[in-house]
Amino acid sequence: MPSGTASSWVPVALSSDLPSGTVMPARIPAGPLALWRSQSGHVAASADRCPHRGMSLSHGFVRGETLSCIYHGWSYGQAGNCLRIPAHPGLTPPEAIRTVTHPVAEADGVIWIAVGEPAGTPPALAGLVPLRSLAAFAGIAAIEAAAGTRANAAGLLEAEDIRLLLSSAREGETLIHVLVEADASPAARIAAARAAEGLRRKAEDFQKKGAAR
Ligand code: FES
Repeated sequence: MPSGTASSWVPVALSSDLPSGTVMPARIPAGPLALWRSQSGHVAASADRCPHRGMSLSHGFVRGETLSCIYHGWSYGQAGNCLRIPAHPGLTPPEAIRTVTHPVAEADGVIWIAVGEPAGTPPALAGLVPLRSLAAFAGIAAIEAAAGTRANAAGLLEAEDIRLLLSSAREGETLIHVLVEADASPAARIAAARAAEGLRRKAEDFQKKGAAR
């Protein structure tokens, strides 16, 4: 999502990068997240900080429908509530022990996180599907300069040979999701991946030159 837009959905990861029973780190402008998918396939997102002693929950593990912290094993549900404290197996954890969670939507192979109150549903990709994601050490402005065009309010940038979904990870860093037509041939997919890598290099160069000025 380009900064300064009204959109409240951030494309943080591709569905294919988060199999059932796994957790991964992700990021929205508000900070780092633990993004996880339960064994039954439900995706949830919480702040990447265990309420106990602050361990990153993205280092934890998924068991069934819960996310457990790697440090002392406290387990959390999809709504962020603590469900189990292994050192006190007979205790029902107080309601006040919970992680901060964020609304999640999954559509067209992309996992979106709502920043604040979700405004409707995530943007439709109109027949495009995600191919892969790239992390760029360049802000969205540098990527737009390298592409010679601007991303729209949903973060979709379309140039002659390339379609990208951009997510501002943090200042000077962008997560690039490469999109292709759903029926793209293998050769077209390879070409799209190469074009995105070339654009990333150019954008990182712009970013470095801008920072050096
Ligand atoms: S820091 Fe997470 S359970 Fe202790």
